[in-house]
Amino acid sequence: MMTLRPLPGPFGAEITGLDLAVAPDEAIFGRIVDALHEYAVVCIRDQRFAPPQHIDFSRRFGELEVHVQSSFNLQGFPEIYCISNCLDAGGKPLGLAEAGRVWHTDLSYMAEPSRCSLLHALEVPQDGEGRPLGDTMFANARMAYAALPAPAKARLAGLEAVHSYRQVYEKIVAKSKPGRQGLKPLSEEQKRKVPPATHPLVIAHPYTGAPILFCNDGITESILGLPEGEGPALLAELCAHVTKPAFVYRHKWQAGDLLIWDNIQTQHLAVDDYWLPQRRRMQRTTVKGRAPEAVRAA
Ligand code: OGA
Ligand code: MN
Repeated sequence: MMTLRPLPGPFGAEITGLDLAVAPDEAIFGRIVDALHEYAVVCIRDQRFAPPQHIDFSRRFGELEVHVQSSFNLQGFPEIYCISNCLDAGGKPLGLAEAGRVWHTDLSYMAEPSRCSLLHALEVPQDGEGRPLGDTMFANARMAYAALPAPAKARLAGLEAVHSYRQVYEKIVAKSKPGRQGLKPLSEEQKRKVPPATHPLVIAHPYTGAPILFCNDGITESILGLPEGEGPALLAELCAHVTKPAFVYRHKWQAGDLLIWDNIQTQHLAVDDYWLPQRRRMQRTTVKGRAPEAVRAA
């Protein structure tokens, strides 16, 4: 029987007793969607399904994206993006090792950012005592907006921000440690595929209507429409606000977790605290969303 309980922390929920190798019926799927909107991050434990089931289940949330870093897409399943520090027998990376090393929202650099991502943990690194490494931290941008004082909310109304893949890519390259699988500079074709996008700074969640503070340190490049010099300081302040501990849930992975996160109301960060022979192997699908719409200050 499917059981849903809140995870320890300010948000997030865990589901047990569900096997997604068998497609869930509409009623169960509806409960998962409701939980995603309410809890923002939903962890379905103990999943052993194969790529086709991962894709089929993900498609029920919407059309899937094929990631611009196509060399890390799973052979035969381009909708699955591989995140891993492991190498195959020929020494070729099994996935992108450096994913998510700065706070970001998947695909906020697109005109239609992602609705949600579904990351399946195949192998989770551990320390000498068997404790998991490679946690993922999530910050809740709905809670962060709600916590702002009224004058701060009023100041944000009507503003827009620019989101850039190039910026986040360069930030991750700059953080990359020597000896890590080298990230190649983006090709002109990749840059053309992902031009910057402009979104309102406070958006209405497309499914719940809740106001969300939509900016993240990795991808958001600038805030438009402010007097000279005010934009960078405000952007830094807002990004720091969203990721305050009161709005952060830190996920400790178990092999078999399928973690679904709402990309509209959260941002996330991959913790860099493991190294081969500690192996990490994850597979992600990314669901397309709608162009975000602005919300007026309450
Ligand atoms: C992602 C991502 C973080 C992680 O899959 O979008 O940022 O911890 N991953 O692997
Ligand atoms: Mn990500």
